[in-house]
Amino acid sequence: MTMAVDKILVVGKHPEAQQMVRPFAGQVYAADEIETLASLVSAVEPDVIVYDASVSSAAIAESTRSLQRENLCCPAIVIRHPEDKEDEPPLRQLGVLDIVFGYCDTQRMGVIIERLSSAPTDSDDRFFIEDCPPAVSIVGKSQAMQRTIRMIRLVAQSACNPILIVGETGTGKELAAQAVHWVRHGGERKFVAVNCAALTATLLESELFGHVKGAFTGADRDKTGLLELAGEGTIFLDEISEMQPELQAKLLRVLQEKTFRKVGGSEEIECRATIIASSNRNLLKEVEEGKFRRDLYYRLSICPIALAPLRCESRRDDILLLAEFFIRNSNICPEKKGRIKGLTKLACETLLRHNWPGNVRELRNVIERAILLEASDRIGTSTLILNPEQTDSTHTTESWAGTMKDFSLEKAEKELVKKAMEEAGWQKTRAASLLGITRATLYAKLKQYNIHEPAQEQEIAQPV
Ligand SMILES: Nc1ncnc2c1ncn2[C@@H]1O[C@H](COP(=O)(O)OP(=O)(O)O)[C@@H](O)[C@H]1O
Ligand SMILES: [Mg+2]
Repeated sequence: MTMAVDKILVVGKHPEAQQMVRPFAGQVYAADEIETLASLVSAVEPDVIVYDASVSSAAIAESTRSLQRENLCCPAIVIRHPEDKEDEPPLRQLGVLDIVFGYCDTQRMGVIIERLSSAPTDSDDRFFIEDCPPAVSIVGKSQAMQRTIRMIRLVAQSACNPILIVGETGTGKELAAQAVHWVRHGGERKFVAVNCAALTATLLESELFGHVKGAFTGADRDKTGLLELAGEGTIFLDEISEMQPELQAKLLRVLQEKTFRKVGGSEEIECRATIIASSNRNLLKEVEEGKFRRDLYYRLSICPIALAPLRCESRRDDILLLAEFFIRNSNICPEKKGRIKGLTKLACETLLRHNWPGNVRELRNVIERAILLEASDRIGTSTLILNPEQTDSTHTTESWAGTMKDFSLEKAEKELVKKAMEEAGWQKTRAASLLGITRATLYAKLKQYNIHEPAQEQEIAQPV
């Protein structure tokens, strides 16, 4: 029998719990002290935590919060005695994956754990495409993305509401939100999105809650808010960190009471939508700086879904996969569709070296521009236009910050040529190709700027 998951961490004092999960895991770890759980979780990195019936709901809430604080979010299953059914709703509110009643229901425990391991491990299919319409396809096989996709599934299949998605700009937060929506609600229900940074506080408020006629000047008719329009579907609050404090308080009330009132209205309207918020800022830092409400933060961050930046070691494996995906699927230039077969080796290297401050969005733009410019059937370095300032190298980028201060085109060009030579290991053909210029032009530039290989240089080499 194949094990459903690799590692399970059982918390509590009842040995029955360990016996119960043993058939489903490669390794079972036990913790009888909840105080030291965080360090154990970070050492063991379990696939799931199981709290046995000896651990109180309050203790589970406390430990969930402390794991969150340490960024050690992990799905949790709770065991309860069959007579403790009233524990279920508050536990679900905490975002626990599921609850098993009694130590005898091994079958149910098995089903829940099996579900955890159902992330695809197919190796032929290079892209992970969720059971979703093409527009919601999530591409990625890197470790970081596998983890994220797993989390998306888990959170979508739990009753967790609200849901927080964090990550730098362009990492795929909105796409992840749509995937959650799709997994949870299918294609039937609505997905409505609003960018909290794009509207003034007043506008955002009436956009979210709606207003009644005469609520303020200009409100000449009733307006239905997005919370209501979303119905039993999903409302996506993009860039939640930009929401004004007063509105944050009103949102918190919606999350707690599950009802709201239109601006100027008195009727309580029920909110049945899944609320997904995203942030590209570190919300905890915003909380510490007094810009984001702490209570709202805790309410939101039950089981956050995190998207790693593209430059992270754990996500680098996705760069070429995504590039190929965009080459194949972009509609930017229909007449070229299918004609461009891929990337040259050097182009691949260039993509891998870049540090992608704009993440997947930037990569997509770079590839689409290259598709437009490329005349051959492979995208080469001359059509990949990257901001060289942001290309990673083992050398310090400080010199770049310096050049930016007293910027001149000449200086910038010199730096660029030098950098390309360094990156090409002083091979002129490669450097020329990196720069998208001919060898002859490169020779001329090297001479013009008096650029030599460091061994021949008089200056003291910079420490690397
Ligand atoms: N894993 C991915 N697979 C395919 N396309 C992606 C992926 N992540 C992001 N994208 C694409 O990159 C762009 C930016 O993604 P988006 O979800 O809007 O990012 P964010 O909301 O984090 O700024 C979108 O065009 C999106 O479709
Ligand atoms: Mg976005």
